[in-house]
Amino acid sequence: AIDVRALLGQNGLLTYDPGFRSTASCQSAITYIDGDAGQLLYRGYPIEELAASCSFSEVAHLLMYGELPTAEELTGFQRNINDHNLLHDQVLSFYHGFRRDAHPMAVMVGVVGALSAFYQDAQDYNRDADQHKAAIRLVAKMPAIAAASFTYSIGRPIRHPDNRLDYASNFLQMMFGKPNEPYHVDPVLAKAIELILILHADHEQNASTSTVRMAASSGANPFACIASGIATLWGPAHGGANEAVLNMLEMIGSPDRIPDIVRRAKDKNDPFRLMGFGHRVYKNYDPRAALIRDTTRQVLAHLGMENSPLMATALELERVALEDEYFIAKKLYPNVDFYSGILLRAMGFPSRMFTAVFAVARTVGWVSHWLELKRIGHGIDRPRQLYTGPTVRHLDKR
Ligand code: ACO
Repeated sequence: AIDVRALLGQNGLLTYDPGFRSTASCQSAITYIDGDAGQLLYRGYPIEELAASCSFSEVAHLLMYGELPTAEELTGFQRNINDHNLLHDQVLSFYHGFRRDAHPMAVMVGVVGALSAFYQDAQDYNRDADQHKAAIRLVAKMPAIAAASFTYSIGRPIRHPDNRLDYASNFLQMMFGKPNEPYHVDPVLAKAIELILILHADHEQNASTSTVRMAASSGANPFACIASGIATLWGPAHGGANEAVLNMLEMIGSPDRIPDIVRRAKDKNDPFRLMGFGHRVYKNYDPRAALIRDTTRQVLAHLGMENSPLMATALELERVALEDEYFIAKKLYPNVDFYSGILLRAMGFPSRMFTAVFAVARTVGWVSHWLELKRIGHGIDRPRQLYTGPTVRHLDKR
């Protein structure tokens, strides 16, 4: 029970808001969500328009610097990314310290954190140029870091980035291309991974972004800050939900078992929840879910997998849930994770890499928030607590 008197702390009134569910922790001009309307804006632009018309590099520039790039700025941005996308040989040797069966996110937390010991050219990151360089390095290297954590796990030599390819295609090539073999990047798959990267690039004060901002508020090294974001994203309640959706769809097996699963999801004595449904902020259809659903259909058709039982089950589950009183009353709609696992699996990503793909995308959001925080300053974050332990007591040493 909360002792209301404890709300009156030594320094005046405290508010008690576990997990900051109703508290804005900062001001930010990057991403806006209207959860009731199901609207997501990056720097004011609707996500649907960006997804339809922009490359990931353009969206990254928008999030990091506030505006879509001119043609000249885009060329400069891409050149900058290409100049920094290789992993130094010594960085590659970090990988050999990990067990091959380590989770890719565990490897990524370690490797990105270790970059703070590797790039020591700026210690305080107070200069614009140093901040910019760190942000570019992180965005540029993250696909190679993620892909190497996968190729290392299966014992395949890593494939270096190819600067003739765009960001999304390069990621696919590093993931799936065999060393020294020419690799044809399927444009339909490249477009699909680009969509996934755009849709996951930022989402205001989610757990991992808030973690990055809190780490940054102490003035910590940017590579260490982003490593803390990767660690937070790894949790199944955050970045791991699409894998849980896939497991659920496999457990359901076929559309005729859906009524039973929906009944379980509504049963308050059963801890089971419909994975990929509901969202802390969206009380309407997550706009990202609709975009991923359409692309999943296209990719499955392109790959000759239009009869995918997983997709048939997902579509039917969505239809049934959206007509069900329980889901309507509680405003539970598909979220971004509902279809993304089906799409990633169809493209060949093993489920252990799903969260790593999310981390590649979200790095743009994390560095955008880091840059914003550096620019506006903020002071160190220091939440308070309600103490629930014993009152003062004394040692009884006899
Ligand atoms: N299936 C069945 N019932 C649900 C579901 C669900 N997926 N989600 C919420 N509910 C019910 C709860 O049981 C609760 O019912 P009650 O009012 O009778 O107690 C009510 O809806 C509100 O639930 P909360 O957990 O309080 O809602 P909140 O907005 O805090 O939770 C959350 C959001 C955690 C995402 C939740 O909807 C959930 O667990 N979904 C399934 C997991 C999932 O898909 N996670 C991915 C989220 S997206 C992302 O992180 C990128």
